[in-house]
Amino acid sequence: MKKITRELEQINSTFEYGRSLGIVRAVAKNDEYDGRNIMLNGKETVFFGNCSYMGLDQNEEIKSAAKDAIDKYGMYFSSSRTFVGLELFEQMEEKLEQMFNKPVNVTTSTTFAHISNLPILIGRNDAIILDNYVHSSMQTAVNMMRNKGDHVELLRHNRLDLLEERIKILGAKYDNVWYMIDGIYSMMGDGAPMKELAFLMNKYEQFYVYADDAHGTSWIGKNGVGYVLNEIPFHEKLFIGMSMSKGFGTGGGLMVYPDRASKELVKNLGKTMIFSGPPHPAAAAAAIKSAEIHMRPEFADLQLDLKRKIEYFWKKAMQLNLPLSGNYRTPIFFIGSGSTENTAFTSKMLLDSGFFVSPCTYPSVPKNKTGIRITLSRFITIQDVDNLLEMVNNIFIQLETAGKLDREVIKKTFLEKNTCDLVAI
Ligand SMILES: Cc1ncc(COP(=O)(O)O)c(C=O)c1O
Repeated sequence: MKKITRELEQINSTFEYGRSLGIVRAVAKNDEYDGRNIMLNGKETVFFGNCSYMGLDQNEEIKSAAKDAIDKYGMYFSSSRTFVGLELFEQMEEKLEQMFNKPVNVTTSTTFAHISNLPILIGRNDAIILDNYVHSSMQTAVNMMRNKGDHVELLRHNRLDLLEERIKILGAKYDNVWYMIDGIYSMMGDGAPMKELAFLMNKYEQFYVYADDAHGTSWIGKNGVGYVLNEIPFHEKLFIGMSMSKGFGTGGGLMVYPDRASKELVKNLGKTMIFSGPPHPAAAAAAIKSAEIHMRPEFADLQLDLKRKIEYFWKKAMQLNLPLSGNYRTPIFFIGSGSTENTAFTSKMLLDSGFFVSPCTYPSVPKNKTGIRITLSRFITIQDVDNLLEMVNNIFIQLETAGKLDREVIKKTFLEKNTCDLVAI
């Protein structure tokens, strides 16, 4: 077997342990899938790891649009759009531009969006600051910039006090300073401080923000424009990578630009725009239908339905004194468990009781912030939330009795300013 580093070996052995328990790399043996139930170990299990927040992946209008597109165009149009693409792809972009009211490019993934955007938008004499909780896809794209010799530095999560210092220092040496963030952070579910960042963009001419709002897409904002654009109006120095694979329900990535010139530049020169294939026709037609649904007045009712469940979850978790990672009301909740062993134990007990949650350990979260990540989709019922949280509470009582878990200690860990750096693997 290939030799790996000691650190990777440790991570891999934790992973293999999780695998032996069936809590990671689980395989859902569903003959049919409805968004709520997954068949694990021969048992119906409530899926609390689903990021299809709005439930649109199961929408009949969207599914039918996708099927029509396959009938009309086949499974795939195999040419880079740089040479030739279907008109359907242009129509997809146009519809998304109506939804966002800004220029848009589409890609087959959000990772590809970052890889196309960054080398074109960020100048050779610009500096890049990464929030150290930013998603791995962004770290990958930024590492490509680092390899080209760009100045890259990590900043502790959300430390805007440190950020302003760095803007001043780096601004004296570089043309521009870019801050790379997630809109909604994918593990802990917290939102980036957009209003404060808008203030800094206004204060410092050289300061730009690039946000990955994959987990903010669809469930919030008018027409589902996402977390970032719900917090602040579009800014001329703001660039956003979004996802169609989560709340949007159809698969793929997209990028929203403050101006048409930036869009066209990336469309002409972006690496994955030139060297990778176009969206699947089924995904393009599905995206057009999903964008139409986002723009209907009744879409706000769907958002409200999910928000009601989010609010209920939060209240119930507080009532039970469960150690949430913070005071956030998003479809991603994180409950700390205090140790990797407790995380594995809790996830396995939940699985055996008919609930699937995502166990999170280093390096997806800092070493001292391990726990379970729970996502809420519209498929989840209030009764499901009650059942899950009561069960988590029972498991935690068991761990407390054994002297293995202390809720107050875990809560304090989440209150501490972030001191632990994450690595990208
Ligand atoms: C915040 C964030 N950005 C990007 C991605 C990667 O998306 P994609 O699979 O479309 O590349 C993910 C994946 O889950 C994510 O959570």
